Amino acid sequence: MQNVNDVEMYHLPMSDPAMGEDPWSFFEKAREQHPWLAKWDEYGYVIHEYAAIRELFQQEDVLRPPYADVVDQLGQQGTPWGRFTKDQMIALPVDEHRLLRDTFAAKFTPRFANQLRPMMRETIGNLLDQWAPRGAIDFEEFASHFPISVMFALVGAPQEGIELLRDDLEAVGLAHSYQLDLFPRIQEGVVRTEKFVEDIIAERRANPPDRSEENEDLLDLLIRVGDKGNISHQQLADLISFFFFAGYDTSKNVLTYTMYTLLEYPEIYQRCGEDYEYCKKVVEEALRWFNPGTVARYADSDFEFRGVHFPKDTMLFFPLSISGRDPKTYPDGQTFDPDRKIEPERRHIAFALGKHMCLGQYIARAQLQEAIHQIPQRIRHPKLAGEPGWRPFPGTWGIQGLPIEFTPGEARVEELEPAE
Ligand code: HEM
Repeated sequence: MQNVNDVEMYHLPMSDPAMGEDPWSFFEKAREQHPWLAKWDEYGYVIHEYAAIRELFQQEDVLRPPYADVVDQLGQQGTPWGRFTKDQMIALPVDEHRLLRDTFAAKFTPRFANQLRPMMRETIGNLLDQWAPRGAIDFEEFASHFPISVMFALVGAPQEGIELLRDDLEAVGLAHSYQLDLFPRIQEGVVRTEKFVEDIIAERRANPPDRSEENEDLLDLLIRVGDKGNISHQQLADLISFFFFAGYDTSKNVLTYTMYTLLEYPEIYQRCGEDYEYCKKVVEEALRWFNPGTVARYADSDFEFRGVHFPKDTMLFFPLSISGRDPKTYPDGQTFDPDRKIEPERRHIAFALGKHMCLGQYIARAQLQEAIHQIPQRIRHPKLAGEPGWRPFPGTWGIQGLPIEFTPGEARVEELEPAE
């Protein structure tokens, strides 16, 4: 048995902008030095092998989510972001988290996501009406309007607030890149988002709509299920804020990176516009190929893994983002192939695994599928019109600025039945 401090491994410069631009080459060096372990000097260890990440998610009982510790580490105790981050669903003690998750998880089904598809379709169609005639856009900026417009529609919020809250969500989304100078703006973003959420809950409670459960929106559902499950007002409000934070730049970054990828695969891009069912395969392959997440955990007690001893309170990072191109699991992983056969043991882990697996995954998938079906119909023959920029690698990684030019297409929105 070796203590983790004595293991020889590569030191990943996680905060270096070069890692945001090209993490792949850094992880290749890490693999050369150790098959599954690397070090991030400032914080802890990075588990970079797909199979090791999966195995560790099965040992979740010795791991705890990092949020309370990170607030202290960054000196953000008592701030709006610090309060929210410590109290959000994902950071709660095991029993409280289970109660909240059990209350809502049964509702976040593929069926519920499918019911939302007509609204998602209309939302992306409306955005394309505004953006597609321009012929040249920053695709990342365009993509950023989609998940937030969907969330606004999901909670029945007035669309005028979208622009302001979008900037706030953009700011808050960088919190887990651990850059201290960003925190004043992040605090403002949290305060405004929380106020917005308080207002929409108060308005909905004061004027409850007269509609059946079958026709309720996400806010009706959260309030109804929360009241039945005796969820406190603060927990409900935190959960709704969390939906805004968790669903915004994750979805935006996947959509933007998918477009960036498909610029290199024009036949696949065109087929997405023609073949609605094919879009599902493309989204799954896109989530393997790229996803934004690096999940963190702390060791809750001393534990051993593959002959290495990890002391209590060691911080571990799981870069889900690069796990889908691990050459050991995906020997042919450097090709973007929506028709690849997916065996259960090689399924992508973009939504993590275990107790905290993404609650919004079916909503996220439905949004992405609807978007990549309509975008190629309206944004034809897209080409890169400048170099993309990159977000920091830790936290929610992705492209920051994707200039493209294209031929505007005619509107062609099909009326399709939701797919099960
Ligand atoms: C492509 C888009 C998305 C990706 C890649 C993604 C990824 C993730 C990941 C990796 C986690 C686990 C975090 C951890 O274990 O520390 C997570 C959790 C979560 N996500 Fe997502 N997410 C996406 C979209 C969404 C959306 C749209 C929503 C809400 C509508 C959402 C709501 C949540 C919630 C509530 C949790 C916490 C679950 C729990 O603690 O039990 N996500 N997501």
